Amino acid sequence: MTEPLVLGIESSCDETGVGIVRGRTLLANEVASSVDLHVRFGGVVPEVASRAHLSAIVPALERAAATADIDLADVDAIAVTAGPGLMGALVVGIASAKALSAYLNKPLYGVNHLVGHVAVDLLDHGELPMPAVALLVSGGHTSLLHVTDITSGITELGSTIDDAAGEAYDKVARILGLPYPGGPVIDKAAAAGDPTAIRFPRGLTARHDMERHRFDFSFSGLKTAVARWVEQRRLDGLDVPLADVAASFQEAVCDVLTAKTVDAATELGVSTILLGGGVAANSRLRTLLEERAAAVGIELRRPRPALCTDNGAMIAAVGSEAIRAGLAPSSLDLSADSGLPV
Ligand code: KG4
Ligand code: ZN
Repeated sequence: MTEPLVLGIESSCDETGVGIVRGRTLLANEVASSVDLHVRFGGVVPEVASRAHLSAIVPALERAAATADIDLADVDAIAVTAGPGLMGALVVGIASAKALSAYLNKPLYGVNHLVGHVAVDLLDHGELPMPAVALLVSGGHTSLLHVTDITSGITELGSTIDDAAGEAYDKVARILGLPYPGGPVIDKAAAAGDPTAIRFPRGLTARHDMERHRFDFSFSGLKTAVARWVEQRRLDGLDVPLADVAASFQEAVCDVLTAKTVDAATELGVSTILLGGGVAANSRLRTLLEERAAAVGIELRRPRPALCTDNGAMIAAVGSEAIRAGLAPSSLDLSADSGLPV
């Protein structure tokens, strides 16, 4: 039997993504970002994102079909992000997917965006060894997950109690006068800095916190510490050493994320860590987690950076796994759930 040809549509935030996979093989991954429209606001404006999806979705579908060299009528199923995300943005992708499903008479699969981030590495490196611990780090979420089955066996071990890791990058970038999104620019600025220059706090690592929040994260205290440090320098009439602040902030984030992830994997006795979400594109996180996982004999699976940030291929990948697992498709009543849990 040939593997199913699955179309994936992603529109939960500011990226309009259309991906096409055959089984676990990536055929196309078109992403149109509206980030330039949000830069002057310092963050994503939901109404602007929804309108941008509306104009980007049809061209993205056409480009993906051309890249994959298929006719959209040939797809076996359509997968779409059902949540979590911005309500108005999700609705554009879901309405488009429903229209295609009804017109082409092909099954529709509603997909959890967070599962997409965890699953996407199978397109790069094949079947995901189970059980695994997944570190999901994006602009809206930061969670540690125990994964026994990608479509039906994910439980949360812990999550952020305040800001998501990506949100911390975006807020610290703003403090430093750098543009949105902050992750890529801080990653780049940090390359020229000294990560030991300033000792910023590691949230929820003190002994009393570890009892209640062993696998939880907190980044808002770190953000405040950076803001205070920068403010004091300015009050003292001194230059802000941008690269050193960026590198020291990044080290604090990556130190906590990697330490807790490796602890969780060791404690649960799993031999694989999966890394996913926009912050998984971070160069320091990728190397530090690789080093610390290797030191205890755990394999790290991390997708290429282009598959870490929001895209349609990750949604198609989960749709394809749902078909492989024999799961029933969603009905045409599928609705958007902006707060969908993992
Ligand atoms: O997963 P994603 O594309 O969208 C959400 O689902 O949130 O993640 C976006 C987040 C943003 O906060 C962005 O600053 C961050 O991922 N990000 C990075 C890097 N690239 C993107 N953070 C750190 N280093 C990067 N290289
Ligand atoms: Zn995402």
